[in-house]
Amino acid sequence: MENCQQQKYFLSTFGCQMNVHDSEKTAGILEKIGYSKAATVEEADLILLNTCCVRENAENRLYGHLGNLKPLKTKNPELIIGVGGCMAQLPSVREKIAESYPYVDFLFGAYNLHRLPELIAKIKETGSRILQLSQEEEIVEDLPVVREDPYRAWVTVIYGCNNFCSYCIVPYVRGREKSRRPEKIIAEIQGLASKGVKEITLLGQNVNSYGLDFPEDERMDFADLLAAANRIKGITRIRFQTSHPKDLSDKLIIQMMAAEHVCEHLHLPVQAGSNKILEAMNRKYTREYYLNLVEKLRAKIPNIALTTDLIVGFPGEEEDDFQDTLNLVKEVEFDAAFTFAYSPRVGTKAAEMKTQVPEEVKMDRLYRLIEVVNQQAKAANQRLEGSSETILVEGPSAKKQEIFAGRTCSNKLVLFPPKRPSVELVGKEIKVQIEKGLTYTLRGKEID
Ligand code: SAH
Ligand code: SF4
Ligand code: F3S
Repeated sequence: MENCQQQKYFLSTFGCQMNVHDSEKTAGILEKIGYSKAATVEEADLILLNTCCVRENAENRLYGHLGNLKPLKTKNPELIIGVGGCMAQLPSVREKIAESYPYVDFLFGAYNLHRLPELIAKIKETGSRILQLSQEEEIVEDLPVVREDPYRAWVTVIYGCNNFCSYCIVPYVRGREKSRRPEKIIAEIQGLASKGVKEITLLGQNVNSYGLDFPEDERMDFADLLAAANRIKGITRIRFQTSHPKDLSDKLIIQMMAAEHVCEHLHLPVQAGSNKILEAMNRKYTREYYLNLVEKLRAKIPNIALTTDLIVGFPGEEEDDFQDTLNLVKEVEFDAAFTFAYSPRVGTKAAEMKTQVPEEVKMDRLYRLIEVVNQQAKAANQRLEGSSETILVEGPSAKKQEIFAGRTCSNKLVLFPPKRPSVELVGKEIKVQIEKGLTYTLRGKEID
């Protein structure tokens, strides 16, 4: 009887947009081999966790989650559980899962998702665990993708990272930079446009390195790729992330300015405001370089929204260095920032540094930083009061069905009471007048 029913999968995703997009591919692959999405974890025949290890709390969440799955496996021994994503790339995690979580059936890597059908079939056939990852060198193209949002899509342009910022585990778990062929990227975006997608976000750990790994005579850089994407009919908004400040070229700034559909928003992680810390982080730029870059961007694209990532409590960070970060945030007046307390990652250079900052000092600095970031964000949003903005409507807001939400090209979330709260509004670009700027959102009203 069991086999006659359609098998169901449940997929949990942690971490960054790269992982979110990998999960969309994972869902595509599973649906192609006959699985359908389970409404709850309890009704699943296959549970996959797509994990992140960028900070310790991300890692702990996996173990918490795995603990919760044990009773399900006891109840249903046929249940298959797999762990993929960045944590699965770490030998220490693989050992821990092998020893302490015997009910995990298999591990899978971000770069060999196409092997999932084979792995699942093998486990069903043999019943034995598969804890080795096969290492793929080539990018596998044309995987099926299940996208949740019909109007906005992620498109990977480059995999991996070569930068080795001293705090960061990503280069160890995602490998070296590998650019996708431009013709594959363009064809994917054309396909999306033909299905009604309006907004794309080009993804990479550092999109500015795009194309540098191609042979000299086939060189195409990120600015060229943006220009090509800008010419695709039907795509009205182009975003990209993440940009490493050291690689953001003048050519790209000019291209952003010239390309009609490229949004006036840039996520430009600065990480710290002190030159001593930036050097220890191996970021390869100075505070002065970053401020100069911001000035150049604002001169060319006056209403550009700037967002960033900040780390406090990096080894050796003194109160003076932290003040440099606070001052930089005040000087730039970011529209928003993700703020993190430094989390040591085994295997990275910074984890070995002797000058680790006590946890309570990190937390104290984090709260002080968040306060300044929030003040700046609110002030930036208040400056928009009275202006009119075009938003792409996403649908009813998370809290109230009758209030709708949409995003400006500068990536700000606007909440508004629609004249007619109808699903027809979703995916449409409409004009709103901004009435109030708050810390995380804007309130507006629909105008004709
Ligand atoms: N490739 C992107 C994103 C990397 S991870 C980039 O270069 O910006 C996202 C953010 O997590 C980083 O920008 C950094 O601010 C933060 N991060 C990475 N490793 C960290 C660590 N060990 N502790 C705290 N924050 C970290
Ligand atoms: Fe990590 Fe730095 Fe690479 Fe970003 S650029 S993924 S922070 S090593
Ligand atoms: Fe996490 Fe991997 Fe992304 S470690 S932040 S999911 S690249």
